[in-house]
Amino acid sequence: MKKIFAATILAALTLTVQAQEDNTKRDAFIKDLMGKMTLEEKIGQLTLYTSGWDVTGPTLNENYKNELKAGKVGALFNAHTVKYNRDLQETAVKKTRLGIPLIFGYDVIHGHRTIFPIPLAESCSWDLDMIRESARLSAKEAAASGLNWTFNPMVDIARDPRWGRISEGSGEDTYLGSLIAKAKVKGYQGDDLSDPLTVAACVKHFAAYGAPQAGRDYSTVDMSERVLRETYLPPYKAAVDAGVETIMTSFNEVDGVPATGSKWLFTDILRKEWGFNGFVVTDYTAINEMVPHGIVANEKEAAELALNAGVDMDMQGGVYNQYVAELIKEGKLTEEQVNTAVRRILESKWNLGLFKDPYLYLDEKREKKILYSQELMDHALESGKRSIVLLKNENNLLPLSKEVKSIALIGPLGDNQIDLLGSWHASGNESKVVTILQGLKEKAPNAKITYVKGTGFGFDGDDSKDEFEAAIEAARNADVVILAVGENYRQNGEAASRSDITLPGVQQELVEEVMKVGKPTVALVGAGRPLDLSWIDANVPAIVNTWHLGTMHGRAVADVLFGDYNPAGKLTITFPRNVGQVPIYYNMKNTGRPFDANNKYTSKYLDVPNTPLYPFGYGLSYTTFEYSGLNISKSSLNMGDEVTISVNVKNSGSRDGEEVVQLYIRDLVGSVTRPVRELKGFEKILLKAGESRTVNFTISTDDLAFYTRNMDFKAEPGDFEVYMGGDSNASLKGTFKIAE
Ligand code: NOJ
Repeated sequence: MKKIFAATILAALTLTVQAQEDNTKRDAFIKDLMGKMTLEEKIGQLTLYTSGWDVTGPTLNENYKNELKAGKVGALFNAHTVKYNRDLQETAVKKTRLGIPLIFGYDVIHGHRTIFPIPLAESCSWDLDMIRESARLSAKEAAASGLNWTFNPMVDIARDPRWGRISEGSGEDTYLGSLIAKAKVKGYQGDDLSDPLTVAACVKHFAAYGAPQAGRDYSTVDMSERVLRETYLPPYKAAVDAGVETIMTSFNEVDGVPATGSKWLFTDILRKEWGFNGFVVTDYTAINEMVPHGIVANEKEAAELALNAGVDMDMQGGVYNQYVAELIKEGKLTEEQVNTAVRRILESKWNLGLFKDPYLYLDEKREKKILYSQELMDHALESGKRSIVLLKNENNLLPLSKEVKSIALIGPLGDNQIDLLGSWHASGNESKVVTILQGLKEKAPNAKITYVKGTGFGFDGDDSKDEFEAAIEAARNADVVILAVGENYRQNGEAASRSDITLPGVQQELVEEVMKVGKPTVALVGAGRPLDLSWIDANVPAIVNTWHLGTMHGRAVADVLFGDYNPAGKLTITFPRNVGQVPIYYNMKNTGRPFDANNKYTSKYLDVPNTPLYPFGYGLSYTTFEYSGLNISKSSLNMGDEVTISVNVKNSGSRDGEEVVQLYIRDLVGSVTRPVRELKGFEKILLKAGESRTVNFTISTDDLAFYTRNMDFKAEPGDFEVYMGGDSNASLKGTFKIAE
């Protein structure tokens, strides 16, 4: 034992010494290189341009080509495939004066060519190992395609389903979102950035991009510093603590200053408070956009503001290239500021192994071997199944029998490929997608399956009712009806906010018509946001929220429908009853007039209950779980103490199944008001039918810290309530206190 311990310490020390030696070498190399660089070349390193893509493949605009040769481009994005990136890298290495290699970035958001579930879906697995594995495999496939930098993870907390980009994040909760942020950074970057199967991650969008007013993309963000620090910043911080190499600015303003020009965010918080030492890249033309924001009069002033804020790389705006030298001449910026930014970028290039071998990521054999490999396909299926959330299952309609005689599959997602890839699927290969129709056919080969699209998504006028009759007829002739409805991939994601979150187009009418037939019906809802499912909940006996699951969508869904996989996903975002309840989230405040059905003058609506349709943490299984025996190891804690909270969970049904055991805490009285509940722990467990297990959580008073009245981050003495169960409405309750 002692020997093993000593060996571990020795190994750790050797690694530290090695890392120090590497850093010394790196610093010397970069110092020497920077000594040879002209100011223009330095500014070039701060410049990131996009490559294009047309029918013949990737292209680079002539101006950028010339700038690249002149050493005025440090990185490119949207360029991939080994062959193409090799050409570009050769230009950088062989045709520029100093031969500094390029970094190749790309939006690898939920897979590169093989697509995994959209991030919101994956978060519903509450499975951190699986999420980390998705990131590792995405990195592997992307790196094999000549990329070494992904613009992910997006960790913006979001509580407004009108906002289209809710699909790209991990939902509404800060605690869970922070753990997922860490898992993704570790997954993308691995232990060694210079391993050609990993990529540098870029956490985004700093800061609070997920809270735009009215849910409209790019809109104003305005919140107290307390809410910003307590709810929105922790996932970015978790990514920084996990060693994320880069961070992206957000488009929005924070407290009146566009993030891209905020020294407070990028220097005071990010660098000074958090000790981040990678580089900062802007979002797409975010420096230029500070002009319409009205914080500067022109792009030159915008460049000055951004560099002064501590923003290192200009994505696509071209303003650093155009104005920084001039601003230095005028004494508005210093060459030292440029040096600092260049140094950070060159350090990342070193960390990626590009100075040792600029062609490290450019191996055609490796590309062929890795793209769409079995390992990726298997993971697409596994992550797909784990992301599905069963919302309703009246009279155990599901799982279906494989002996079912006839099925009517109705709806625009039924025999569809591209939309199942979801938003931001970038280079995801549509032709590889297993459709729902195909998935059903594989599972129930003897069933007669009739597919009728019924209608479109109401996108670009695609809302004809011509096929309604055929859909009704198919339903009449089937034993079971499966409705494959939802959004297409362009109805959520960037620049895809919606003011109405019901099924788009005339799909709702289609569902209502088909329901009149009266057959056992399952609604498969495939969307990138929580939809208003109130009517469906009241009228359709089984509802499966599938989200958009990527390449293996159809197979994952079929596994769940026929019971080869027992669904275990839990919502990471509250589903409202209608859009008027938005923003609605589980850890709201109590108010001075909490809901009371018998008192008109309490906080409520006249036309809809306060409660959501489905709460955060909710999701059904084909089995049932019973919670009992909540035990709290101490009734009174001193500051700094730990307490163990345990509960007994029993699989009380007849199938094996997984359950996400959730721990919520309420701090009853604070120097500022506290949420009615906060998630403080969870564990996903597998229980065989009839099996029981005790699940333990240990939390310390540090886990109860918050920004107090004086903005100190600490716990306060007082009474706490504990809730344990399978969703945020958990009713098993206990108490403890922190002594004065
Ligand atoms: C704009 C998006 O906001 C950002 O998330 C993305 O990484 C960049 N465009 C680059 O495509």
